[in-house]
Amino acid sequence: MKLLMCPPLYYGIEREINPRMSRSHQSNPQLAQEQWRALYRILEDHLGAEIALLEPRKGLPDMVFTASAGLVWGNKFIASNFRHEARRGEAPFFDNWFQVRGYEIFYLPEENFFEGEGDLLLCGDLFFAGYHIRSGITSRQKVAEILGREILSLELTNEWFYHLDTCFCPLGKGQALFYPAAFASDALKVLEDKIGALIPVPEEEARRFACNAIVVEKNVVMNDGCPQTREKLRALGFSVLETPLSEFIKAGGSAKCLVLKVPHAEKQE
Ligand code: ARG
Repeated sequence: MKLLMCPPLYYGIEREINPRMSRSHQSNPQLAQEQWRALYRILEDHLGAEIALLEPRKGLPDMVFTASAGLVWGNKFIASNFRHEARRGEAPFFDNWFQVRGYEIFYLPEENFFEGEGDLLLCGDLFFAGYHIRSGITSRQKVAEILGREILSLELTNEWFYHLDTCFCPLGKGQALFYPAAFASDALKVLEDKIGALIPVPEEEARRFACNAIVVEKNVVMNDGCPQTREKLRALGFSVLETPLSEFIKAGGSAKCLVLKVPHAEKQE
């Protein structure tokens, strides 16, 4: 498994683009580095991941959240169109990384907001797209055409859970964690209709980003302090690795936001 990560060298809470972020509630740079490195180690040592690194850039503190760079599908890379100006400066660096590695890059029209794997997740063989808060509904059709696949849309209604990967975590075919209060009622119907085993996460654990977990086969890596979710996952046969990510939660991200799956990337130079 290959993942793309970006070290938190210039990470910090500089802008407030989601309700979690407050400049008066700064992250500790030293602790952020340690937490990021611990996550890196778990992924490499326990999950056998091959990790490619993207060079961090000054003035782009959210670049650590590589999941929102875009969507990778085969050798296609659909570049994100960030809703907030604060993140738009990251896009050329993300796009360039894929460009030089020979990916076919797709850009969406400027008015179609799209925030990559933050809002588009595969559960079994079904694509689910979160929209309304970050990605727009208008990007769905274009993304579906590029992927050549149907995409099911899920309206997100709770600003605290602004990306789909903050409230929905596919575990395998027909199985996912979710936080019900993040979705519009139509979206809940779609989830209930399409996913046989939907496992609700309690509010306090959803707020600790229980749904923002990295799932690789029967392994789950997530923020610490989510005991109910951990036990449910264990009962389902998953091995759960917890690692503290408090400094990234201050920016509205956790384990899954910090990685992007890049199945076809060449080895890191
Ligand atoms: N501060 C970042 C933002 O608001 C966090 C991104 C989290 N990424 C994710 N895939 N959910 O955009």
